[in-house]
This record gives sequence, C-alpha cells and structure tokens, in this order.
Amino acid sequence: MLDKINALEAEAKGEIKAAGDSKALDDLRTKYLGRKGLVTELLGTIASLPPEDKPRLGKELNALKTRLDETLRSRQTELSRSPVIPKDFADLTLPGFSPPSGSKHPLTKTIDDICSIFLGMGFKVVEGPEIETEFYNFEALNIALDHPSRDAFDTFYIKNQYLLRSHTSPVQVRFMETEKPPFKIIVPGRVYRPDAVDASHSFMFHQVEGLVVGDGVTFADLKGALSVFLRGYFGADVKVRFRPHYFPFTEPSAEVDVSCFICGGKGCSVCGRKGWLEILGCGMVHPNVFKAVKYNPEKVTGFAFGMGVERIAMLKYGINDMRLFFENDMRFLEQFR
Ligand code: PHE
Repeated sequence: MLDKINALEAEAKGEIKAAGDSKALDDLRTKYLGRKGLVTELLGTIASLPPEDKPRLGKELNALKTRLDETLRSRQTELSRSPVIPKDFADLTLPGFSPPSGSKHPLTKTIDDICSIFLGMGFKVVEGPEIETEFYNFEALNIALDHPSRDAFDTFYIKNQYLLRSHTSPVQVRFMETEKPPFKIIVPGRVYRPDAVDASHSFMFHQVEGLVVGDGVTFADLKGALSVFLRGYFGADVKVRFRPHYFPFTEPSAEVDVSCFICGGKGCSVCGRKGWLEILGCGMVHPNVFKAVKYNPEKVTGFAFGMGVERIAMLKYGINDMRLFFENDMRFLEQFR
C-alpha cells in the first residue's frame, strides 16, 4: 500500500509540473483529489485493511492529499506569473507597432526657437490681442491718422475703430501702459494685411516683436542683442549688417541683414545674388511712443525690433512657397520632426 501511495504521488507531481494552464490544473485536481479521484479512491479502500494498519495509512493518505493540494496551488501561482504562450501565438521577435506621434508645425518650431534664444538673454514672452484699435495699432505708435506711412501697414478694418492688427507693435504699447521699466520682452503672434496670396504673401502671417526699455539703453545694446540672436539662430559665422531705414515708432531706425548662409555671401538665387538676406526691422523707441504710454523720454530709453516668422522659416529651411505653411499637407509637415 505504501508503495502504491509513493508511486501515485510521483505520477501526480510529474503531471502537475507539466500542466500548461489552469484548465489542465483543474482537470488534475479532479483526477486525484476529486470525489471520484485516485487519492479519494485509495482512502475508500482503507476500510478493508487490517485494523492495525488503518490509522497509519489513513494518516499517510491525508498527508498526500495536503501535499498534492499544495503542489497544485504553487503550480497555479507559477502559471499566473509567467503565462505560457503557445509557439504559434505570435512572433515575439517582430518590432512592435509604434503609435503615430505628432510634431510641431514648422512655424511653431520657428517661433519657439526664436523665443528660446531671447529667453536665454533674460527676455520674457508676452502676447496681445489680434483684434486691435486704431489707437494701439497706429496712433500710440506715432503713426498719425493721415500719415502716408499707414499705407505701408495696409490694414483690415472691422468697424468702429476696430481692426485686425497689422503688426505686433501694438503689444509694445499695451505692455508699457501697465508695466514699469526696466524690462525685456518678446512678443510672438499673428498679424493680418490685405495682401493677395502668392508664394511670398499671405493675408495672415506671424511676427516676433521685441522691446527693451530701461535706464540708458543704447543702440549698442540693440546691436549686441540682435547680433547674439542672429548668430545663435543662423550660425556663429554669419555676418550681420545694419542699414538705415524708417519706421514711425523708432528713431533712428534700421533694417538688419545677415550674410547669406546658403552661399556664404558669394551670391546665389536665394539672396538674389546680393550675398545678404534682409531679416528684420528695428530702432530706438521714438520719444512720442514713450509719451503715449506716459513714460518720461528724458528718463528712459529703449529699442524695439520686429521680424517676419514665415520669411525666417522659409530662409532657414529652404521653403520656396509660403502657402505650404497653411495647407497642412502631412507630407510637408512631417519633415519638421
Ligand atoms: N512693426 C514693424 C513692421 O511690421 C517692424 C518693427 C518693429 C520695426 C519694431 C521696428 C521696431 O514692419
């Protein structure tokens, strides 16, 4: 009888170890410990044994029951920890599916890159409304109502003095109305002009404006800040050149060029054989602008600048048609990851 018990235990344990899932384990539990199971059956035969053997064998069989129960349980935990995958279920060596991921729009990327260089120089980013009034878009910026330079800032008028801002400069005025110098701000945003759409024009585009005001801010500071920016953005070896220009809200004013980073200044189709690329407008804040925001022009000075984001992105990435930015063709956008 003892031999029978040992043989049964060895057989049962072997089968339990080999069981591949909980269904197989359930079946084994029934096979050995069930109401008609093999261990149960053996227990039933005890009644016909000589009385002196009964207690010992009864104890042995009950201990076997407990051991098999434990073996079944531990195999179950093992299985739940490492599920066994049938060989033909999946090829685990195949690369997984990566979920499609988005990317920044090239204009957003350009704005972020521009702002991050200025953030490094201690500027903070400020925004303003796209629906403006004649006061903020023109008058406070020293552009008189009847001044011909208004034509240069051709504008979408709404009604009752409201308009779509034609540049980001009105944010200069809004900021100075509520804040005191010294400060350094950078203002990215959309602007609108009633231009016919073509490869280099759009009725909506983006600008980044800058304004620095403080005690004794000079044109040298303007030159320094813009040179750091332009070399940071276009490359350490670009040359920077300032040309006299006119803006109503700055005096003196300048336009800034960088040496063409495509041809290195030798002249190519991108720079129109000139070797230089016009990048931005700038100047020292006009005293009349300070007066409009109740700053004392005898006490503070400052500089301002403004640049077109589409133009900068087109130059930087070699894009030849502005309309590509607004068509949202995935084949174009995906190139700016
Ligand atoms: N607002 C000007 C424009 O749109 C750019 C500019 C900003 C020039 C600030 C000088 C100073 O053309």
